[in-house]
Amino acid sequence: MNYSVFQLPDSQNVIDLFASVFTHSEGKEEGQLISELVSNLISTTAPDDLVGFVAKNHDAFVGCIFFSRFVVPNDQLAFILSPVAVATDVQNQGVGLGLINFGLQYLKQKQVELVFTYGDPAYYSKLGFQQIDEHTVKAPFKLSQPIGWLGQSLNGETLQPMQGVTGCVEALSDAKYW
Ligand SMILES: CC(C)(COP(=O)(O)OP(=O)(O)OC[C@H]1O[C@@H](n2cnc3c(N)ncnc32)[C@H](O)[C@@H]1OP(=O)(O)O)[C@@H](O)C(=O)NCCC(=O)NCCS
Repeated sequence: MNYSVFQLPDSQNVIDLFASVFTHSEGKEEGQLISELVSNLISTTAPDDLVGFVAKNHDAFVGCIFFSRFVVPNDQLAFILSPVAVATDVQNQGVGLGLINFGLQYLKQKQVELVFTYGDPAYYSKLGFQQIDEHTVKAPFKLSQPIGWLGQSLNGETLQPMQGVTGCVEALSDAKYW
């Protein structure tokens, strides 16, 4: 398995990957919703505010993740991980964990201090994420599943509670994703 930074020419391959993975796991509508989200992230996010990573098996794209800029009240450098997809036929073989760890190492080297995500705590706790609540760091929208609000510090310090609003990039700024 080869992990690398997402490049713009990868766009159609990763949009197709998200469509296929989410159609398979959650149905056609979700496949369309998430592939549109990925397309919007790529086309509307400033280059400094978006970084993606791909997993390739020979020439096939089998995994993709995106981190986008997340503005927090204490001005620490933060990103949010969303979305994540691993090709249906290679799931549960360690690709997701390997790819996300690869991305976290990259962000750490770029001095990113905090990373958030919104997903299954059972899975993301394997990657250093911990459940947080709205008193620690507010989510930018009302969460339909508050149990899935997760964060971690990458600089070795404890994630400190902070007051005030947070902000995500335009592509994620839609209540339907939260
Ligand atoms: C969820 C997903 C990203 C995980 O990637 P993966 O490559 O299949 O998972 P890995 O092989 O890296 O991880 C394996 C471990 O995570 C666990 N795991 C995998 N998917 C899980 C899930 N949805 N919830 C909880 N645990 C999960 C496995 O049981 C395994 O645990 P173990 O090592 O203790 O046995 C992938 O299955 C996927 O793309 N699913 C469909 C789309 C999706 O749900 N995306 C995430 C939301 S944005």
